[in-house]
Amino acid sequence: MTDAPSRLTLRRPDDWHVHLRDGAMLHAVLPATARVFGRAIVMPNLKPPITRVDQAIAYRDRILEALPEGVQFTPLMTVYLTDDLSPAVVEKGFLEGVWTAAKLYPANATTNSAAGVTDLVALAPVLAAMEALGMPLLVHGEVTDPDVDIFDREAVFIERHLIALRERHPRLKVVLEHITTAQAVDYVASEGPILAATITPHHLHLNRNAVFAGGLRSDFYCLPVVKRETHRRALVKAATSGDPSFFLGTDSAPHPRAGKESACGCAGIFNALHALESYATLFEKEGALDRLEAFASESGPRFYGLPLNEGSVTLERSHQQVPERLEGPFKALPDGSTLDSHQAPVLFHGGELLPWRVTEVS
Ligand code: DOR
Ligand code: ZN
Repeated sequence: MTDAPSRLTLRRPDDWHVHLRDGAMLHAVLPATARVFGRAIVMPNLKPPITRVDQAIAYRDRILEALPEGVQFTPLMTVYLTDDLSPAVVEKGFLEGVWTAAKLYPANATTNSAAGVTDLVALAPVLAAMEALGMPLLVHGEVTDPDVDIFDREAVFIERHLIALRERHPRLKVVLEHITTAQAVDYVASEGPILAATITPHHLHLNRNAVFAGGLRSDFYCLPVVKRETHRRALVKAATSGDPSFFLGTDSAPHPRAGKESACGCAGIFNALHALESYATLFEKEGALDRLEAFASESGPRFYGLPLNEGSVTLERSHQQVPERLEGPFKALPDGSTLDSHQAPVLFHGGELLPWRVTEVS
């Protein structure tokens, strides 16, 4: 046994799945992601969703304007697929370098997905164009059929839809996003390297007992919902295995407090502020710290066909107490909007001690 390291330097990582939102929330949450991650795949589920090239360019500009001084960060934009999006629009945005990938939300599967896709077979012309371009399809893999138990929605989506979709489009690069089940792990492991998956910090740390521990914890409600312990173990094994088909995607999804703490609370966990520390803690528990760099900084860019980042991040073993909520001051935008501190999102690991701290980013 070697001694536990006190410092860990990694190639600068990327976040292959994040919700940055817009307006005052964007300004409040972006610094957390941009400080640590060199690039991030930005989800398009705004209101209205990002379905046009000009919208994506304008959104990218708002992200770049919201960046703190001196921070180097590249947002990678995605297009939100709908039933009537034309292949020509998808192609144009990709060839112009605006879109890195397209996001498939089955209609009504999650937050702001009402405009999502209702018929995957009818999406064939768009998917064929993406296949020809080498443009990745990012999938929220859950069926929305109310007859399917919520804990089975991911496994049923793979069986009923994903296998057939990939048979129709065998050269399409697909990322099954935020996987939560052993079935997803097995399917991705057997179908790589053209199929990959992102894994979030919260699905690595939580099982479904956590949602009900001592009361109903709406802060642990996300979609897909966290599953039973056997599934969490399968995710931990996959993330720490070194298999390049599994890489980092936080699915950090901030909501104002009132949206979470309500009789019908929103799905989403805001983890961006301590995401890398969260993964490091988990990898260390598994004796797999030497595999964190591949998961966080290498396998994602290789799948996307992008260069690895040049810079580095250093984590030090130094306990930090995670605050309960994102702390201000929150900037007032020119239109007068700001994030009311009572509405600041709750932090994943809030109130806990984490053994690692990011101390340097270059
Ligand atoms: O928990 C989630 N929150 N899952 C998603 O798929 C969407 C996200 C959000 O946008 O809030
Ligand atoms: Zn998401």
